[in-house]
Amino acid sequence: MQKIYVHPLPVRIWHWCNALGFIALILTGIQIRYADLVGVMSFKAAVSLHNWIGWVLVGNFFVWLLFYLFTDKIRVYHPELSPVKHFRASFRQLQYYGYGIFKGEPNPHHLSAYHKFNALQSMTYQIIMLLLVPLQFVTGILLWDLKRFSGAVEFFGGVRVVDTVHVLLFIFFTAFIFAHPYLASLGHTTWGHFKAMITGYEDVED
Ligand code: HEM
Repeated sequence: MQKIYVHPLPVRIWHWCNALGFIALILTGIQIRYADLVGVMSFKAAVSLHNWIGWVLVGNFFVWLLFYLFTDKIRVYHPELSPVKHFRASFRQLQYYGYGIFKGEPNPHHLSAYHKFNALQSMTYQIIMLLLVPLQFVTGILLWDLKRFSGAVEFFGGVRVVDTVHVLLFIFFTAFIFAHPYLASLGHTTWGHFKAMITGYEDVED
């Protein structure tokens, strides 16, 4: 086995702050939405905590974004295949997760320093980080001060639309918090990818 440095420090710091923050936002979000069913803290405390953590994660997002924008590590997200080949590679990866893995077939993706993600990961992480996370933040900020942002709220169709988008994304991220660690546990060992997100180094066969 050889060790390859795949997750630089800023990405690791961003990732674990983000993961903890998302879990806290989901829990305080449940307390806010189901205040009559859940009584862990007061409604006011849950709203205040939710807002503070939300702002910290907005700032933390820029650690991830600026790191990739200003280093050559952005190559890990560059599509090196044509769209058709990328789609085929994603499909092969899906087939592996849904079927091949249970038959003991080898993972079609071979990891290296600039290919740390398989086609499916690179696509889903970009959709999540460049579309869904920013949309969650923008809708959250609009709901944070409806008076100040009344013009923007009206522009997007009113408070009901903004709130519905925020809640639908909350449902997506709640599912993601379970699906993402499960998929991350399907490396060469169960904890291989988790250790790599802590130490930065992934073990790869020579
Ligand atoms: C319990 C919470 C979480 C755990 C245990 C976890 C675990 C991991 C692990 C092990 C990796 C590296 C291996 C891989 O890419 O599959 C990873 C990467 C990643 N995770 Fe998570 N994660 C969590 C929450 C989140 C959340 C909430 C988000 C986004 C909203 C997220 C977004 C990402 C992204 C974008 C990467 C790739 C980072 C990069 O190298 O650019 N994760 N995660």
